[in-house]
Amino acid sequence: MSTAPLNVLLVSASLFDDNGNSRVLAASFVRALEASGLQYKLTHHDLVERDLPHLGAAEMQAWMTPADERTAAQRELVMLSDTFLAELRAADLLVIAAPLYNLGIPSQMKAWFDRVLRAGETFNYTAQGPVGLLEGKQALVLAARGGVYAGSELDSQTPHLKSMLGLMGIADQHYVYAEGLNMGDEYKAKAMTEAQSGIANFVEML
Ligand SMILES: Cc1cc2nc3c(=O)[nH]c(=O)nc-3n(C[C@H](O)[C@H](O)[C@H](O)COP(=O)(O)O)c2cc1C
Repeated sequence: MSTAPLNVLLVSASLFDDNGNSRVLAASFVRALEASGLQYKLTHHDLVERDLPHLGAAEMQAWMTPADERTAAQRELVMLSDTFLAELRAADLLVIAAPLYNLGIPSQMKAWFDRVLRAGETFNYTAQGPVGLLEGKQALVLAARGGVYAGSELDSQTPHLKSMLGLMGIADQHYVYAEGLNMGDEYKAKAMTEAQSGIANFVEML
């Protein structure tokens, strides 16, 4: 009996190339997945490398125009979001390598969420509140932070990610934090080691 490979969608957005701590964590995740022997298919978008632009008015209007009424330019404009949506729908596991920039996610990452958080596609508004349309997916957030915030009111990034993922129906969310990365080499080394063991534990559960 053959089982389908685990479909993994990884989005990353560090400004620090391969030295980015969230990228290092993402690489650890991929290594752990490889070592697990699981069959998997990985799609990776580096949103900084591709310089993902903000969602603009013309692009959003193109989504809102019925498909059979779109101009050629609008058909071109909807392709980006439609491609991201198709990748997300196909994914079993969404991995978000999330740097903390100014207490939030990088703007390029917000630009990705802006293109997958589409009413009628990943969630619906109902009288009982918004209802997510994605089912059976897991999310793993690998959070890299200069300071220490997890569990405190200052952590505005975690609730934001939880709400955005939850809005689409992704309730099975796992968070691995590497914090205090700008608080000295010793602190950083310990935080990265602990995060890497959190990643290994997550992969063992897959
Ligand atoms: C533009 C920018 C903004 C940052 N803002 C914060 C912040 O608000 N709080 C914090 O603790 N660290 C902050 N940092 C430090 C980053 O969280 C830290 O460098 C972390 O490693 C980022 O992930 P990365 O290395 O994958 O890019 C900031 C770094 C940059 C470059």
